[in-house]
Amino acid sequence: MDLQRMLGLCRSQQWGIDDLDWEVPARSFEREDEIAVVQYFTDMAGIELLAGALFEVQQQKSDDPLLREIFASFVKDERRHSQVALRLAAHYNRHHYRSYRPNPALVRFRPRFVEVVRQAAPGVANLYITTGELLLDIALLRSLDDFVDDPMSRQAMRLINRDESRHIAVDYHMVAYYASDAYAELEARQNPRNALDLARQGFALTRFIASAAPFFRDVFFTPLDRVDPSGHRLLEAFKRIQLLGQKPSIARHPFSRFLSLMQELYEHPLAGIVLGPAIVRFLGLDPRVIGRLYDDEEARRAARMSVDALAAEALAVKSQGARFSKARRRRRPLRERVGSWLAARI
Ligand SMILES: [Fe+2]
Ligand SMILES: [Fe+2]
Repeated sequence: MDLQRMLGLCRSQQWGIDDLDWEVPARSFEREDEIAVVQYFTDMAGIELLAGALFEVQQQKSDDPLLREIFASFVKDERRHSQVALRLAAHYNRHHYRSYRPNPALVRFRPRFVEVVRQAAPGVANLYITTGELLLDIALLRSLDDFVDDPMSRQAMRLINRDESRHIAVDYHMVAYYASDAYAELEARQNPRNALDLARQGFALTRFIASAAPFFRDVFFTPLDRVDPSGHRLLEAFKRIQLLGQKPSIARHPFSRFLSLMQELYEHPLAGIVLGPAIVRFLGLDPRVIGRLYDDEEARRAARMSVDALAAEALAVKSQGARFSKARRRRRPLRERVGSWLAARI
């Protein structure tokens, strides 16, 4: 990636909340839909602030002046998105059926996510951030915008999406960087972490895991079930994350190996039955997105593609309609799984 060019885009594509035409009248919703839409925009404001806090940590951790400036612009973008989301919440709150506060699971999770990103190895932290951004951009915002289906939301989401495209491109670039030999050498030269650092990391990770499941459930999975009942975009977002892990340079990373072990155990016909619930709890994810969401050909293709090309493909998916088709949308019956597991080994 040409970071200088990216920085140029970060500067030239800045915009302000008042560039949007807020005079457009808000469409009306049924009572329950209005309550849901206002709550989701309220939560979106909190998620955007979380994204901003995570980029701030990345900015502080980066040694590259260009990256520092790029991340600083992303912090600014996310704060602006948060303000826009709050204003959208107010815009659609026509009947004031109740008062709205950010979801408590989000409030609890936010400082813990920031802490884990601060403490964890940068490569791991970056993978979490990339996952969050793909989930937010490909699944939640796009589905929410379609559900709202109104010019005010469309004009805001168009500009937010343009910013998010830059974020995802840089997220992928950083994933490739942390998986590179150059970074591995740099890391090897640095002092190993001492016991206190490891204890701090472990503590932060435990707190993070304890609050991750309710956060993902309340802020992503439940709203998505309402605004995209087909689940297509949710599966598409996780498929993009899984495909990134098919690149050999990324797959060899200890954290990627750990995630694929979890997936293998979860899909194993016998171990999956015993350990499945614990794996779901530990990863904090919906069972639908833990299993393999791509086929062999897609895996081989992703392994051959550059990280930039994978990012471009994820961004192209973002601007298309929901069309997920190749996923196993639910776990196959036990008998079928045992049969295929045996067939592969006999
Ligand atoms: Fe954002
Ligand atoms: Fe973002």
